[in-house]
Amino acid sequence: MNHKIRELLSEEEVDNRIRQLGEQITKDYEGEEIFLVCTLKGASFFACELAKRIALPLTLDFIAVASYGDGTQSSGEVRMIKDLDESIEGKNVIVVEDIVDTGRTLSYLMEILKKRNPRTLKLCSLLDKPERRVVDIQADYTGFEVPDLFVVGYGLDYAQRYRNLPYIGVVESEG
Ligand code: IMP
Ligand code: MG
Repeated sequence: MNHKIRELLSEEEVDNRIRQLGEQITKDYEGEEIFLVCTLKGASFFACELAKRIALPLTLDFIAVASYGDGTQSSGEVRMIKDLDESIEGKNVIVVEDIVDTGRTLSYLMEILKKRNPRTLKLCSLLDKPERRVVDIQADYTGFEVPDLFVVGYGLDYAQRYRNLPYIGVVESEG
């Protein structure tokens, strides 16, 4: 099964924006060390590119939570699949996410991480779909706001496919 994908944000636009976010974070955390928490699998492409643009001492760890089935509908239920390898106590944690949609995944995750006493805890999301918000949560750093459409590419999937697209696109139709 193949889908028609319409480009929404070009590879160049995404790369440029990630470079800006990296520069902003580098400025904001000057003189500090950063602990980057990448949420699997969607944010992995973004997190690697972002990490390369942060000119500060940095460590990277991965966490996996799931809230979606195979399609485009949220189940509303969030659970932890893989925890971090390291402690975040006393660290400057930045959670890197692919997209904030309803906000359920992030509010669950941020609550868990807050209880572990990081020194600071912030959220950086490549995309934000504000129209869909159910839980009140706002990223500290956002790449782009996108309309209420199902997007793929740059790590985001539709039934596990299209993560490898180097741009952000909208799934238009099945064909
Ligand atoms: P939330 O809990 O509804 O905010 O959902 C967040 C998660 O749902 C994201 O981390 C994505 O994995 C997935 N998701 C939400 N919207 C999209 C989309 O448009 N394309 C692909 N995945 C999405
Ligand atoms: Mg995700």
